[in-house]
Amino acid sequence: MQQLDWKNLPFGYVKTDYNIRCTYKDGKWGNLEVSDSEYISVHMAATGLHYGQEAFEGMKAYRGKDGKIRLFRWNENAKRLLRSAEGVLMAPVPVELFKEAILKVVKLNEKFVPPYGTGASLYIRPLLFGSGAEVGVRPAKEYMFVVFVTPVGPYFKEGFNPVKIAIVRDSDRAAPLGTGTFKVGGNYAASLRGVVKAQKAGFNSPMYLDTKEKRYIDEIGAANFFAIKNNTYITPKSDSILASITNMSIIQLAEDLGLKVERRPVAVEELESFEETGACGTAAIISPIGEINDLETGKIYKYCNGGKPGPISTKLYETLVGIQYGEVADKHGWITVVE
Ligand code: PLP
Ligand code: COI
Repeated sequence: MQQLDWKNLPFGYVKTDYNIRCTYKDGKWGNLEVSDSEYISVHMAATGLHYGQEAFEGMKAYRGKDGKIRLFRWNENAKRLLRSAEGVLMAPVPVELFKEAILKVVKLNEKFVPPYGTGASLYIRPLLFGSGAEVGVRPAKEYMFVVFVTPVGPYFKEGFNPVKIAIVRDSDRAAPLGTGTFKVGGNYAASLRGVVKAQKAGFNSPMYLDTKEKRYIDEIGAANFFAIKNNTYITPKSDSILASITNMSIIQLAEDLGLKVERRPVAVEELESFEETGACGTAAIISPIGEINDLETGKIYKYCNGGKPGPISTKLYETLVGIQYGEVADKHGWITVVE
């Protein structure tokens, strides 16, 4: 195994030893197969390649101080993959098959789970796509479920430090009745112009507004948006954003801390009045936002706390990460230890 610089890992791909594959054919799933190849042989007319009949998940395995490896709410990822499969008419991956695949792939690549204290974790990427050949636009009859892992560092190089976000108005990620609520590849293809535009302008990530009126905040690149004001945790309700498992968990933690929670449309102008803002997701964890720049109107919103994350974001971050690494009591039963 190559020597990995655990503390400086980017959020990127690192080759590991094994991945898992499973094929759906003749109306049923086959057995899980372990592979040491990074490549898949796919039919050139596969619907996943042509028509974006594809969905994926993202979750992490965390190494605690006690050496144990923990998964966080994997069953929510399994359920979301079921919803995504339904969204683009793919064969669903049964929850038990999903569980067996992720536990197996983590166990087989145990040595790639970064050591405790490095801020890194093992990212687990399950993906499902139409592998059957079709030329007309219709769902495939065959599917492939693959799970690979890769050790990763923070999604934003800033780690738990304020990031800069750009409001992008000239491209949309998802339509209200489209696929925005599903974790399907097409949404990410549609987001690329916004991502690159924001990055070229010197920002970490784009903020998308609702596509109909451009009045309300949707989400931030590959993360949900939240804000803190008057001891209240505020996060957008929208029919074109992904239901983040991290956000759902932080909502619970905010309630545990005695905060009020509001899930409702959040107008852009409200950015003016927030005390703290942040992005949250498996990859982003909780990334506090220091600045939001509306590229088209030139309006800039700043959240300064002497250049540090705000107090409530910090408390939420410490609690969430504490649970994931096994240092804070798991009172909601979110953790599965990999035996
Ligand atoms: N929004 C989008 C578009 C995402 O890709 C992700 C990442 O999965 C999230 C939000 C955060 O979701 P989760 O917390 O379940 O990782
Ligand atoms: C995740 O947070 O798991 C994501 O899916 C982000 C990813 C698209 C980079």
